[in-house]
Amino acid sequence: MKVLITGGTGFIGSHTVVSLQEQGFEVVIVDNLSNSDRGVLDRIGKITGKKADFYCEDICNRNALKNIFGEHQDIAAVIHFAAFKAVGESVEQPLKYYHNNITGLISLLEEMKTAGVHNIIFSSSATVYGQPEILPATEDSPVLPATSPYGNTKQINEEILRDFLLVHPDFKGIALRYFNPIGAHPGGWIGELPIGTPNNLMPFITQTAIGKHAELKVFGDDYNTPDGTAIRDYIHVVDLAEAHVVAMKALLNNSLRENYSVFNLGTGNGFSVLEVIHSFEKTTGVKLPYRIVERRPGDVEQIYASTKLANEVLGWKAKYSLDDMTISAWNWEKMLSEQHFSSGGKV
Ligand code: UD1
Repeated sequence: MKVLITGGTGFIGSHTVVSLQEQGFEVVIVDNLSNSDRGVLDRIGKITGKKADFYCEDICNRNALKNIFGEHQDIAAVIHFAAFKAVGESVEQPLKYYHNNITGLISLLEEMKTAGVHNIIFSSSATVYGQPEILPATEDSPVLPATSPYGNTKQINEEILRDFLLVHPDFKGIALRYFNPIGAHPGGWIGELPIGTPNNLMPFITQTAIGKHAELKVFGDDYNTPDGTAIRDYIHVVDLAEAHVVAMKALLNNSLRENYSVFNLGTGNGFSVLEVIHSFEKTTGVKLPYRIVERRPGDVEQIYASTKLANEVLGWKAKYSLDDMTISAWNWEKMLSEQHFSSGGKV
């Protein structure tokens, strides 16, 4: 089976390409390399021993998509990762986000329709829940008004997909709502390559530990949580990648009742910022300099997933622990510095 992966050289995309290839899928990647580098392709190959067909193209370019579908008439499904994802940047440059993330999905759906490719998995986010009143968040928890243009593009794209599938019963789609993906492939060949200073917790921790930053700022210790720091559901990126393969099989085997399904992808466990720091220190033996500062505007207090639906319907459950996540993230950071891969630059 051949699958088209948009954004296949990015953090989650590259791990999913590995999982798909390991399970016998043929992979075609389209990625404009706006937030990743070509070297990822060789490193995927080092893990799987397989090569993916690669197109350096923008998914908003309809002609490029048309050509790819034309050259690969046996594509059975698409996994759509390609999108901008920096929350702060999306506030500063909303049109950049609305244009890329929304036009991208629309052009993809239109070209899939023309090409007769009728299966799609879309990368959504737990950000659609905001701060849920009741935890854990289930797929039926209310979708709250987005607090950033980035979050809004995830909500709008879910609506576009839902409305499109409603009038195209011959199409099937799944939206996967990721909680907080962290960690890296255990082999150390692929991982997260944030451009510039990372905003997310895990890459900031590993970069601080390796000496790129003087200290980690912990955003707030006055939340209503056991240790006062905010709680998230961190999920190993390899678990997340495996979930895409399982979801893909469910789509292709026609085993889902509806033609549009939504699943949470998390572990079901919430960990505080301090618990993540302590796991990192324990697994790596590295002492992390950190300081408590003000809350970060827009952050929610706590969120973690109900994983019941993915477990019951897809038969999927996350396997890796928080310690597995922190040690793999550290091994990747060390690999980056040893190999002189530049974080966020070209390899
Ligand atoms: C953020 C985005 C979310 C996006 C996700 C993945 C916001 C409000 N949410 O989630 O929409 O889908 O990234 O890219 O930006 N923290 C620190 N110090 C740091 C960095 C983070 O204490 O230097 C804390 C945060 O306050 C938070 C936790 O660590 O409590 C996780 O933060 P982060 O990794 O940025 O993820 P989210 O904010 O959950």
